[in-house]
Amino acid sequence: MSHNASATGHERIETSNFLMIVLTLIAVAIGGMVEIVPLFFQRSTTEPVEGLKPYTALQLEGRDIYIREGCYNCHSQMIRTLSAETLRYGHYSMAGEFVYDHPFQWGSKRTGPDLARVGGKYSDEWHRLHLSNPRDLVPESNMPAYPWLASTKLDPEELAPKMRALRKVGVPYTDAEIAAAADATRDHTELEAVIAYLQVLGTAVK
Ligand code: HEC
Repeated sequence: MSHNASATGHERIETSNFLMIVLTLIAVAIGGMVEIVPLFFQRSTTEPVEGLKPYTALQLEGRDIYIREGCYNCHSQMIRTLSAETLRYGHYSMAGEFVYDHPFQWGSKRTGPDLARVGGKYSDEWHRLHLSNPRDLVPESNMPAYPWLASTKLDPEELAPKMRALRKVGVPYTDAEIAAAADATRDHTELEAVIAYLQVLGTAVK
């Protein structure tokens, strides 16, 4: 439809590409702000659930290895509120469980099971065998093996700068924890770090 000089009111907006685009953007921006901005101030989405602790140095390093290895490409960490989910995985995930996660690992890709509450489900030894070769424990598994985790030592000097950066975005690490981080990770393998991380997932909520 061509622009009509005598058009008034709504017709004037509908017949002008420019007005239509600008007014649509304004409407979407207001709608978005009304939905999103309150979440920044809501206690249930910004405060940690009771009992949530920041990751220890070893768990934090394990989390970074989890991200490096792309585990999130097959595993989500968010239990939905549907009964099929809560019967299989436990209590549904709550925003307050993830306030120390930067970035969070919620995801939606589930080639493997959700891991939001895998902490405590298996022994450390089970994870050691599973990560070294999943098919030794689950013959039909298509999860890759990660044998190098067991033979790679952590770099203890990496931890303090990471923890200081996380403190800047609100993770309450103390000076003492940051000072002790190098010793807490020295001589540990990447495998031990990943297992420490897996074993704490979802355990703040009983
Ligand atoms: C290609 C997809 C894929 C990738 C990548 C992957 N996994 Fe898996 N994972 C699976 C599948 C499928 C299963 C279920 C079969 C099994 O237990 O091996 C599984 C199972 C698991 C389980 C057991 C969960 C349960 O509740 O029984 C853990 C823990 C796990 N994976 C951790 C990891 C970690 C850590 C990484 C990254 C180092 C990883 N996975 C990468 C596919 C994957």
